[in-house]
Amino acid sequence: MNNELELINIELEGILNTSNDNIVVTDSDGMVLRASSNCTSIYGKARDELIGQTVYQLEQEKIFYPSVTAAVLKEKKEVQVMQKTPTGKVIMATGIPIFDRTGKMVRIISFSHDLTEIQRLKEDYEQLQKKMMKYESEIEELREKETTAYQIPIKSKIMQEIYELVNRVARSDANVVFLGESGVGKNVFARALHDGSDRHGGNFIELNCGAIPEALFESEIFGYEPGSFTGASKKGKAGIIELAEGGTLFLDEVAELPVSIQVKLLKVLQEKKVTRIGGSKAKKVDFRLITATNQDLEAMVREKRFRKDLYYRLNVIPITIPPLRDRVDDIYTLAQHYLSIFNKKYKMNKSFHPSTIQAFLEYDWPGNVRELENLIERIVITSPTAVIYPSSIPFIKKVMAKEPNIEEWPLKTFEQRRMTLHQALEEVEKSWLTYAYRQYKTTYEMADYLGLSQSTVVRRLKKYSINSK
Ligand SMILES: Nc1ncnc2c1ncn2[C@@H]1O[C@H](COP(=O)(O)OP(=O)(O)OP(=O)(O)O)[C@@H](O)[C@H]1O
Ligand SMILES: [Mg+2]
Repeated sequence: MNNELELINIELEGILNTSNDNIVVTDSDGMVLRASSNCTSIYGKARDELIGQTVYQLEQEKIFYPSVTAAVLKEKKEVQVMQKTPTGKVIMATGIPIFDRTGKMVRIISFSHDLTEIQRLKEDYEQLQKKMMKYESEIEELREKETTAYQIPIKSKIMQEIYELVNRVARSDANVVFLGESGVGKNVFARALHDGSDRHGGNFIELNCGAIPEALFESEIFGYEPGSFTGASKKGKAGIIELAEGGTLFLDEVAELPVSIQVKLLKVLQEKKVTRIGGSKAKKVDFRLITATNQDLEAMVREKRFRKDLYYRLNVIPITIPPLRDRVDDIYTLAQHYLSIFNKKYKMNKSFHPSTIQAFLEYDWPGNVRELENLIERIVITSPTAVIYPSSIPFIKKVMAKEPNIEEWPLKTFEQRRMTLHQALEEVEKSWLTYAYRQYKTTYEMADYLGLSQSTVVRRLKKYSINSK
């Protein structure tokens, strides 16, 4: 039969051998009496090597470093310390003093918990967090890019289809020509095409062929070697084709390209090589060509003003941007877009009266989006009221000044109703005044719209019992 003491001893050893924490028991001089069996993995020393040693010796040897037991002996209360052990582990040690009945400290028990795993998890977590932050900022960047592209305000189905086509085509390397009236947004879409392509990291080199004197074309496009002509720079110069290397070359108003240049450009496109003026070496070039024109290139080809072979090269993918009057759905979106831009720019807070929007929708915009943009900038600055009424819009007056269409004139109704001229005039006057009264906020604006003085407007409103403002 085991006696009581033996059983307690067995229990104690059982605890020491099975605990996940490391346990060390010392006497009141700091000498190790017992230790759990996991000492080797934590301290690199078997428990038998520790038993019999004092914590002070072990502290010096940097095995218990710093010793929690030494701290408990000094402070006579529970202490917690972080230790770094010879096996490279980070542990949290808690030392607890044990007192006898008389209050004398007789034992110190310390529990050490391995934090290495937690430490590693913490480091992993921090690393992950850093990575997350990096990804988040990358996603944000991408999102920004995407919204910048989508910032081309388009609402109409036709423009959405064109936008999708541009993005689809962007991924290929095919030559694209943008066609359409002046101001429809050819440049805007050429840029969007570059931004959506694999070449977006490269240069987007733009040359307006209509803005270059014929004599300078060649050197501008193909570049030149030093001293190749009088007035040439001593160092020579790269042409825009070379500058577009790895990127996109955008030739705007391509119909203005002189025929002599057309031949040379065609050669570059066929051979993918460029030779500078005065040079003998042809240099390989890699660029994507986008062109744009508001001219009828096909007609120019027929009239032999544009080379047919070059036309076919450029015309691989033609994209025609319709005029604004053919995509009325975009007008409101674009108007609001520019209103918010110019409100911001000029620190204003203007808005459109519904009748102004109506006038925009009915107008035919010969200058397309450019005209709309310019007009809105102008009226944001010049409109005297926070709400922009049609009276602030220059073209409205022009439209009004047009001859009335006799066909539309409701003479017949007046006739059928057997009205006198005077009655008919009064009816017209009254309904026109009522219309103006609904459209405008003040009698001054009504006067402006009707071409009357403000006092006359007030008098007539009274005459016809239209509630005056
Ligand atoms: N969808 C659009 N969204 C926002 N702005 C646009 C849009 N389309 C055109 N614009 C603006 O309208 C103006 C004219 O556009 P752009 O210069 O691209 O026209 P274009 O077709 O190249 O004209 P041109 O034939 O006269 O060169 C620019 O200020 C441009 O920012
Ligand atoms: Mg343009």
